[in-house]
Amino acid sequence: MQIKHLISIKHLSSNFVEKLLQSARKMEANPEAFSSRAKGKILADLFFEPSTRTRLSFESAMLRLGGNMLGFSSPKGTSVEKGESLADTIRMAHSYADIIVLRHYIEGAGRVAAEISDVPVISGGTGSQEHPTQALLDLYTIWKHHERFSNLKVAIVGDLRYGRTVPSLSYILSLFPNNKVFYCSPRQLRVRREVLNEIEGKLEYEELEDLEDILPEVDVAYITRVQKERFPDPQDYLKVRDSYVITPKILKDVKESFILLHPLPRVGEISYEVDSLPLAKYFEQAKNGVYVRMAILDYFLNYPWEA
Ligand code: CP
Repeated sequence: MQIKHLISIKHLSSNFVEKLLQSARKMEANPEAFSSRAKGKILADLFFEPSTRTRLSFESAMLRLGGNMLGFSSPKGTSVEKGESLADTIRMAHSYADIIVLRHYIEGAGRVAAEISDVPVISGGTGSQEHPTQALLDLYTIWKHHERFSNLKVAIVGDLRYGRTVPSLSYILSLFPNNKVFYCSPRQLRVRREVLNEIEGKLEYEELEDLEDILPEVDVAYITRVQKERFPDPQDYLKVRDSYVITPKILKDVKESFILLHPLPRVGEISYEVDSLPLAKYFEQAKNGVYVRMAILDYFLNYPWEA
């Protein structure tokens, strides 16, 4: 069955995810072989919130596939400032482009855009809700290093309440058997009930505060930034912003195959001394975003496609 838009991991099957990531692996091995897949096609990237990785890696992916792009990195300077609605902005973008990548601060914006758009809409992250393409590149990075999608123990650490990568990563891990997540956060930033309801019975999990207790038994630690911009009260942010700082000392007892991930940007959660350790895979993870997003664009522009 064709998937028309990519708004949530909840709409994907394990089979689709595996095929997509296999396609990304082929693209990583030989990107030149795919350099005409988007020839003559245009991507509209509509970013209502700041981004470095998602926007630039989608643009890099589109260029590597032989396509072109237009769009904006901020609503400033667009007719949104004059009061134009999201719906009308989408109507314009689908008139000018073959595929849309949307980042928005409002939860549900991706779904609204998908209902209106005549061309595929890919979410580049909406509010605290989800960031599905990030989860795909997160799982791709885990797969590259562990060579499996199942039987993984993953610690997800930091701001589990407001971080939008957390629900998407949880949902994608829940598609595969025998995975377990340790949700590690201060009490105020625990994972939201709606996320736990979604994974209940599909993904084993534990909630805890002390990361050091479980680090020696996990395969992956996925650190997240405390999302300052989403706190209603700045004082509450100050109370929790330094809850976890990963240093080489904290990592001394991890498994040999352990990897450390972060969706980035980081603002102090991982000390710079960690960057040179072989287990630090967060910059590679960001680079993997290009290949995964090439595979995503290829799927939506060229369906039915061969993974
Ligand atoms: N990981 C991620 O979404 O980064 P950006 O906000 O820079 O796109």
